[in-house]
Amino acid sequence: VILTQDELKKIAAYKAVEFVESGMVLGLGTGSTAKHAVSRIGELLQQGKLHNIVGIPTSKITHEQALSVGIPLSDLDAHPVLDLAIDGADEVDPFMNLVKGRGGSLLREKMVEGACKKFVVIVDESKLVKHLGGSGLAMPVEIVPFCWKFTAKRLELMFEKAGCVGKLRRFVGNGEPFVTDNGNYIVDLYFKRDIGDLRAASDAILRLAGVVEHGMFLDMATTLIVAGELGVTVKKK
Ligand code: A5P
Repeated sequence: VILTQDELKKIAAYKAVEFVESGMVLGLGTGSTAKHAVSRIGELLQQGKLHNIVGIPTSKITHEQALSVGIPLSDLDAHPVLDLAIDGADEVDPFMNLVKGRGGSLLREKMVEGACKKFVVIVDESKLVKHLGGSGLAMPVEIVPFCWKFTAKRLELMFEKAGCVGKLRRFVGNGEPFVTDNGNYIVDLYFKRDIGDLRAASDAILRLAGVVEHGMFLDMATTLIVAGELGVTVKKK
């Protein structure tokens, strides 16, 4: 049997939910993979196999989904330390560094997942890369709307050697700028060449006024679950 990508995402998500125990405060990720984990947690609560769970959602959409499946919710103000977060990723390198945010939820994801004792990343094998940003896909940066062209230009110049092109993310339908849950814009950076030292790149992006956060999640994941045609693997840091 050839499994669809969505079936692989579900397998990874269900495996991650095996790490969830009653009484935990949980970071709930965003995206097409994480949504399987959220619905599974709801199902186990419903069946009485889990109890006393508090969920901290990483986006408005996950907030809605979690409520709809009956997960009691709270926030980082009330729970500054979380036991475990489960979330997908757009790219995962061999050191478990991630690119996230193609769904636009990178800021809240980084806040919540940075506050977790354990962060379980769930992906199908198509997300594995050698170098972050090397797959020709977007590296998202959340910026303030004020003079966004200026900020996008500064980001391009910052990575000129890597052949960086920055594109404002827009809604597909009406072409209006995509607006994040926090009222910001997203510039997607595309690189023609390797961006080199990731930590240096991260620091440089964050130093630029106008930038709110970027989608590189360096040294945050503690467990990686990969579902592929040959089965599911669990790798711990
Ligand atoms: C949301 O902004 C993202 O960080 C997602 O977690 C990431 O894009 C993975 O999404 P999928 O599971 O839908 O691929």
